[in-house]
Amino acid sequence: MNQDRDQFSSKWGFILAASGSAVGLGNIWGFPTQTASNGGAAFLLIYLLMAFFLAYPVLTAELLIGRYTQANPVHAFAMLSDNKTAKQIAKGFGLLAILTASLILSFYAIVGGWLIAYTLADICMLLGLKEQAEWMTTTSIPRNLAFTSSFMLLTIGIIMQGVKKGIEKWASLLMPCLIMIMIALTIYVMTLEGASVGLSLYLIPDPSKLLDVNLLISAMGQAFFSLSLGVGTMLVYGSYISKNENLPSLAKSVTLMDIGIAVLAGFLILPAIFVAQTNGLEIYSRDGQLLNGARLIFEVIPALFSSMGGIGKVLSFSFFFLLSLAALTSSISMLEVPVTYAVESSNVSRKKAACFVALIITGISFLIVYNFSTLFGLVVSIATEYSQPILGLFLAIYAGWIWSRNEILTELKQGFDTVESSGFWKIWPVYVRFICPSAIILVFLQLIL
Ligand code: TRP
Repeated sequence: MNQDRDQFSSKWGFILAASGSAVGLGNIWGFPTQTASNGGAAFLLIYLLMAFFLAYPVLTAELLIGRYTQANPVHAFAMLSDNKTAKQIAKGFGLLAILTASLILSFYAIVGGWLIAYTLADICMLLGLKEQAEWMTTTSIPRNLAFTSSFMLLTIGIIMQGVKKGIEKWASLLMPCLIMIMIALTIYVMTLEGASVGLSLYLIPDPSKLLDVNLLISAMGQAFFSLSLGVGTMLVYGSYISKNENLPSLAKSVTLMDIGIAVLAGFLILPAIFVAQTNGLEIYSRDGQLLNGARLIFEVIPALFSSMGGIGKVLSFSFFFLLSLAALTSSISMLEVPVTYAVESSNVSRKKAACFVALIITGISFLIVYNFSTLFGLVVSIATEYSQPILGLFLAIYAGWIWSRNEILTELKQGFDTVESSGFWKIWPVYVRFICPSAIILVFLQLIL
């Protein structure tokens, strides 16, 4: 199983690829809109605490399991224990992880398709092709089918090339572009009227909101989703890291990058929402709730750009291009999970496996497109609100209780020989053992109650 496993060529290659996975719609769309509707700065503060104190330890566990087992989630989880029953249960969770990664991709590809459609529509507008642009930005089944397929084709194209030439090369190229475009857009939006209202909402916390249970729970869910935890994405990426690397430090870099981009996106989107309001757009619905994420991105933001004249068209193109890139470096990390499993449990080539798996996932996406109003929200909810916390819990329990301490220590020592005397080793085992499972159970109870 371990022969010919591809590897990231450098520490930076891994950091960029894993950050590429983590940074996606969750950061640029989910985080700012959740912040805006959950009290602004209070959410930001709690989110930061959750990301560092809960998501980071789980991320380290997932990467460690991946590098130790050098395998896909099904085989990897089964290797953590010698007990037969524990092995069977672990395999079941491995399959659930693969299924969940595939389901997340099936709806992510639809949204990714919209992003490509909006990017191309801006190019069409710049070229004077108004009719085509209109078709691309108007909801219809043919439009959705065409662009979901395009998004999937781009994803397959990168995955087929493997780890070094595909994932690492593209993420290294796309991530820095993304950060630069975002900083430029943020600076521009800051100069517009209304931006300061968004900025103060973002930065001045309302202390009365800090202990709101719903806020705590949304912030935790957001942190887990944003770091791509639980479904085997980080496990599989972990399996491509060289044994010379210090894993807790790599996990820290990825967490910092992910949080950094979410915080940066907040500096862009929150002010932009209020600039749009200054320009006369409704941003709150009648019951005082902020418009939902999809409408904010596909209605409010384009309206903001179109009120800016010529420069707005260029900015709009950059914005949707940026979001498409962020979505693509996340989608490749989702497809990698079932593809690795297919390659390692049969003898098919990587290319064949990528095409076969992607075809099935595209089939699911099509089903969702045809029954959008019933299926889209349902699939999002099953995959992210139920399956992901269950898998996160499983991961914390296996890393904290089932996997032997000695084996963990031996694995950690590779690339971090002083780990035993480090603060990390004093805190982390207790964290994954007690705090992470309890916190996840709390989220889960909240969801089902
Ligand atoms: N974290 C990515 C985002 O913020 C999405 C993502 C990629 C993901 N892989 C995942 C989410 C695995 C959950 C599980 O958009």
